[in-house]
Amino acid sequence: MSPILRYLLFAWESIIYGPAYGYLNQLIRVPEPLDHNRAWDLITEDWPPLVNWLRKHYPPTFMRKLLLRRILNQDHSLGIENHYDVSNEFFCQFLDKKYVAYSCADFIEDNDTLEDAQTRKFEHILSMLRPKAGEKILELGPGWGSMLNAVYAVTGDKENLVGYTLSQQQIEYNKTHGGFNVELRDFITTEYEKEGFDAIYAVAVWEHVRPSEVSMLLKKLYEALKPGGRLIQHFFCLTTDTVPISCLAGQLIFPGSQLSSHRFHVRAFEKAGFQIHQQTVHDYRPTIRAWFENLTSNRERAIEAAGVREYNRFIIAFAATWKFFDDGEANVYRFELRKPVAKTNLTDDQIRRSKTATAPL
Ligand SMILES: C[S@@+](CC[C@H](N)C(=O)[O-])C[C@H]1O[C@@H](n2cnc3c(N)ncnc32)[C@H](O)[C@@H]1O
Repeated sequence: MSPILRYLLFAWESIIYGPAYGYLNQLIRVPEPLDHNRAWDLITEDWPPLVNWLRKHYPPTFMRKLLLRRILNQDHSLGIENHYDVSNEFFCQFLDKKYVAYSCADFIEDNDTLEDAQTRKFEHILSMLRPKAGEKILELGPGWGSMLNAVYAVTGDKENLVGYTLSQQQIEYNKTHGGFNVELRDFITTEYEKEGFDAIYAVAVWEHVRPSEVSMLLKKLYEALKPGGRLIQHFFCLTTDTVPISCLAGQLIFPGSQLSSHRFHVRAFEKAGFQIHQQTVHDYRPTIRAWFENLTSNRERAIEAAGVREYNRFIIAFAATWKFFDDGEANVYRFELRKPVAKTNLTDDQIRRSKTATAPL
C-alpha cells in the first residue's frame, strides 16, 4: 500500500472511529517491522492535552454505540480466528515456556520471571478450584492448555477434564501437547448437560462475552453445575459503566468482543444465583511488558511465523493495552463463585437479617 493511501486511510478512520483507532491502525499498516521502543513510547507516554482530549472523547458516545453495534453483529468465531489462529508458533515467541499461558500473571517479587508469576497465578486459581480426581471439570477457552496442565498435575485425571474453544489451531496444539480433550464449541451458544459438572472455570475468556450475552450464559452455567459446584472466573473488565473510546480501538485487537463493567458482572453473578466467595484484583501491566519484551527479542522468528503485519499488530496491542490499564480504564479480577447446595426458602428479609445475625435464625 502506498504511503499516500495509508495517510488517506488514517484520515478517514480517524474521522469515523476516532484518532486513537486511526493512529494505531496506521502504525499496524507500516510495511516494515516497527521500531518497537519508539512505538511503545509514542503510545504509552503522556500525549499533548488537546490530542489526549480528542483521544478520550471522539467519537461521541452515540456514535461509538452505533459503530460497535455494527461490529458486534458478527459471529464470535470470526473474531477468535482473527486473533488466535494467527499461528501457534507466533504465540510461542512471547508467552511463557512453562505453561504457554495467555492471561495475566501474578508478579509480586522484583526478580520474578514470567514463569514464576504464571506459576503463582495458577497456584492461586487451583486454590479456588480445588479440583479432585473423578470430578467432571470444564474449562471455557483453554488456549494452549496452560490450566488444563495445571489441573491434570493435581488430579491425574484426563478423562473427566474437557475444554471448549473456537480456535482450531488450539485444538491441534492441545492434542499434540498433553493429549487433552478440547472440543470445537462456542461456549456461549452450546447446550450444556444439566448438572453435568462439578466445576467450571475460565481464565481470560469472559472478556469475549458481550454484555448482551452475560446473563444468558451465566444462567446456562449455573444450570450446568451440580449443587455446591464452583465457577472460577479470571478476567478483566471496565472500571466504569460508560463505553470508553478504547472499546473501538480494541476492535483492532479483539474484533467482535465488547467489555462490560465490574459492577455489571458482580450484579450478573448474583442475579444468576451465584455466591461470591472470593474476589481478588491483579495488575496486568508487568505481564504485558514481559510479553512485549519476549516478542521483540524473538522478532525474526515471530515474523517468519506470522508476517510483519501480525508482528506490528501485537507490538501495538501490547503498548495500547498497557496504556489502557495504566489509565485505570480496566482491572483484572479473579472470582470464586459457588452455586449454593440447595435453593434457600428464606425470604429476602430473613437473608438480610442472617448476614448480620450473631445466632442462627
Ligand atoms: C486469552 S485466551 C485464554 C487462554 C487460556 N485460558 C490461558 O489462560 O492461557 C481466550 C480463549 O477463549 C477462547 N474463546 C473465546 N470466546 C470463545 C467462545 N465463544 N467459545 C469458545 N471459546 C472461546 C479462545 O479460543 C481462547 O482459547
